[in-house]
Amino acid sequence: MAHEHGEHRHGEHRHSEHRHGEHHGHFHGSTDIDWGAMAPLLESQAELFAPLYEQVMAWLAKEAAEPGLIVDAGSGPGVVSCMFAEAFPGARVVAVDGSEPLLERARARAARLGLGDRFATIAGELPDVLDELDYPADLLWAGNSLHHMGDQRAALTAFAERLAPGGTLALLEGGLPARFLPRDIGIGRPGLQARLDALQEEWFARMRAELPGSVAETEDWPALLAAAGLKPTRTRSFLLDLPAPVSDRARAHVAATLGRVRESLGDAVDEDDRATLDRLLDPEDEASVHRRKDVFVLKAHTVYTAVRTS
Ligand SMILES: C[S@@+](CC[C@H](N)C(=O)[O-])C[C@H]1O[C@@H](n2cnc3c(N)ncnc32)[C@H](O)[C@@H]1O
Repeated sequence: MAHEHGEHRHGEHRHSEHRHGEHHGHFHGSTDIDWGAMAPLLESQAELFAPLYEQVMAWLAKEAAEPGLIVDAGSGPGVVSCMFAEAFPGARVVAVDGSEPLLERARARAARLGLGDRFATIAGELPDVLDELDYPADLLWAGNSLHHMGDQRAALTAFAERLAPGGTLALLEGGLPARFLPRDIGIGRPGLQARLDALQEEWFARMRAELPGSVAETEDWPALLAAAGLKPTRTRSFLLDLPAPVSDRARAHVAATLGRVRESLGDAVDEDDRATLDRLLDPEDEASVHRRKDVFVLKAHTVYTAVRTS
């Protein structure tokens, strides 16, 4: 079993010292992410997406029937790690992440849910920190974490090496950008979310380019899983479809997500669209996402699986 959390080696902000000084395009400021500060957003997001993760886990159970050890690589605050522990009651779950403050929340959540005796954490830089695992994983899950690693091909190879024979690697990457609003919302220029998505793609490309050891990679995940020595098995996309009118929780998530988009894109967003975003985020405004009736959540996540055959 993995070493318990006392043995973590690295803290936050592991990327900062490696960042290039150079900025691309019209973005200003850093793409370095303060993961500890992201805790509330990561938690509200994963909680809202619980119905989607339940489907993912039922689907994974067909491949990894009774895993003894599940490793959640890049677990963040452990919402999904705890769902794994609940979905696979015979398994121990080890949540691995670079942010100790997030892992602290993961341990607190597991304890609260009565899962503490089957739950451990390891803090440190992926993929190397996986050396601290004492046993190979029957199921290694990497949910929206691989794309934060500079060399994704090398990380996948290291993940694959940590699998038990017959073990499954499950990768959540790609999918479709979320939609929260109709194309025409009666304020500003129609198509706001599509324009924000295009800017986020640029931000993402810059974020990847600025990661330490960044390697450009064609994102053909099954091909990369095969190159890591695994046998790609299945690909499926899962939908979260919360039509209007949404719950307060979904509304709060939409507001938090758009708030973060506005913050990270800054003045890359044109003036008209910034004015629209300001109205959408102003709780006093009737047209805001806090009050308008047409807010919804529609999002697709894609999961790729591959098995270690020898
Ligand atoms: C977008 S969050 C996803 C969290 C969680 N898997 C979920 O879906 O809710 C990415 C997580 O990966 C972690 N992470 C990113 N790069 C890492 C690295 N090189 N080593 C360890 N953790 C890393 C971050 O700290 C963060 O918690």
